[in-house]
Amino acid sequence: MKIVHISDLHFPTMIPFLSLKGKSIIGYANYYLRRRKKHDLTLIQNLISYIKNTEYDALVISGDLTNVSEEREFAAARNWLDPILDARTFIIPGNHDRYKRESLHPELKFEKYFSEFMGTSVSSEYYIRKKMIQGTAFIGWDSNRPLPIAKANGYLDPNIPKETFKIIGNDYFLVCHHPIWNPGNYLESNGHKMVNRREIAELLLEKPPLIYFHGHSHSNWVKAPGKLAPYYILNSASSTRFSDSSHACGFHIVNVRDSKNMDIKRISYHLLSETFTETDLLLFEEDRGEI
Ligand SMILES: [Fe+2]
Repeated sequence: MKIVHISDLHFPTMIPFLSLKGKSIIGYANYYLRRRKKHDLTLIQNLISYIKNTEYDALVISGDLTNVSEEREFAAARNWLDPILDARTFIIPGNHDRYKRESLHPELKFEKYFSEFMGTSVSSEYYIRKKMIQGTAFIGWDSNRPLPIAKANGYLDPNIPKETFKIIGNDYFLVCHHPIWNPGNYLESNGHKMVNRREIAELLLEKPPLIYFHGHSHSNWVKAPGKLAPYYILNSASSTRFSDSSHACGFHIVNVRDSKNMDIKRISYHLLSETFTETDLLLFEEDRGEI
């Protein structure tokens, strides 16, 4: 099975400042002044065409399609992604898609635009979504909730893995926005990381996924299977951003033959030629970082 994984697309959308309220004013100003120019329109168009012209079985998008969860951002994200949304797509939300209370009430904004690509809900109590692609389950978890300004951390109820194990067989892929492991040169603060990820990693030992797909930290990496997390962990954030000295951006394409036999390629944007091309894989052993 060939899987394309992209993440943290943060599609640029112009929002009139005067229409924003509360936390969104600072959040959008931060995006507008610091990050807007890094998410280039030509790069985004090239990313969509590259995927459109690639043969694959599944497309995983691990959240953060918006910046401050405004309605017009969700509509723009749906529009940008339209050429590559089909039965092979599996999407989950990121913290920027659950940025404020209004993104959840009175309606779930992310679901309003993307529900047909989010799989089926398999729990009445927790966000656990499942989609079968080519006979293998893709499981989606939502580690996000609205938080005060300058906080972006995640949390998963420990019942979520336990409930998930009841509805899956041996082989499954897991998609969650927050990392469960970081390389030593890219550690996250408590205000940014999934706060109980060690607990979740320990629970996952009972039924490890084939791959844990995530985003959130805007740099690509791959962790090889190890003792604490006996599975590959892939970070494809950010796929729509220019790389710089502290952000190795791009995305991954994985060819899964079986649980031990995977061919992982990293694709990144080449600024001068304005094309996506295969580049060096940033592969780490587990002891080069921490859960
Ligand atoms: Fe994020």
